Amino acid sequence: MDCILDLWPQRKLKMNSKQGILNFAVLASGRGSNLQAIIKAIKSGKIKAYLKVVISDKKEAYALEHAKQAGIPALYINPKDFHDREAFDRAVVERLHEFKIDFVVLAGYMRLLGSYFIRQYPDKILNIHPSLLPAFKGLHAMEDAFNYGVKVTGPTVHFVIDGMDEGPIILQEPVTVGPHDTFESLKEKIHQAEHRIYPEAIDLFVRGCLKVEGRKVKLFS
Ligand code: GRF
Repeated sequence: MDCILDLWPQRKLKMNSKQGILNFAVLASGRGSNLQAIIKAIKSGKIKAYLKVVISDKKEAYALEHAKQAGIPALYINPKDFHDREAFDRAVVERLHEFKIDFVVLAGYMRLLGSYFIRQYPDKILNIHPSLLPAFKGLHAMEDAFNYGVKVTGPTVHFVIDGMDEGPIILQEPVTVGPHDTFESLKEKIHQAEHRIYPEAIDLFVRGCLKVEGRKVKLFS
């Protein structure tokens, strides 16, 4: 717990919960294995923050099921109910405000956040991407890296800014592509690495151990 006092004032983090613990939300569109890893880290005490709500833009997202099983409010918001992206983003932000969310974690959220959303949570939105950024941005990063023939790839946790997969990098973990790796085996290794670094990055954020300086994120411990 060493970093907090030094860095929180500078980050201008306003804590919403009375107990002095940050509230956060996870936004997810898919199977939710990163969400599961995050819930596990909360249960084991590694992440000391309240996961107040999980929101999905996909009704069938299994992430919603994981949330329900853990007793966390799980909301589906249908993008088709809104006339454009910003209207949808505004509806999501409204729910985040209702839940007094301090920071947001994207875990397989398949929508680009617009600038309105990002302005609401500057340096307070984290994302995980399954390649070593800035290589292989975009939706098919794992396939693209595998097909390109890279020998090393791996996930990146970064802050979200306007610009897809472009925010300052918090953590990365290299994953070796062995001669016998198939796309499936590589995918599994990348997911395992994701489940290690995402809880770790969230823990660093929560403890106020991350300092953003331009493109660079300084890590304290
Ligand atoms: C992960 O590979 C993550 O890097 C990407 O979307 C995937 C989500 O997987 N952004 P899951 O839903 O957490 O299992």
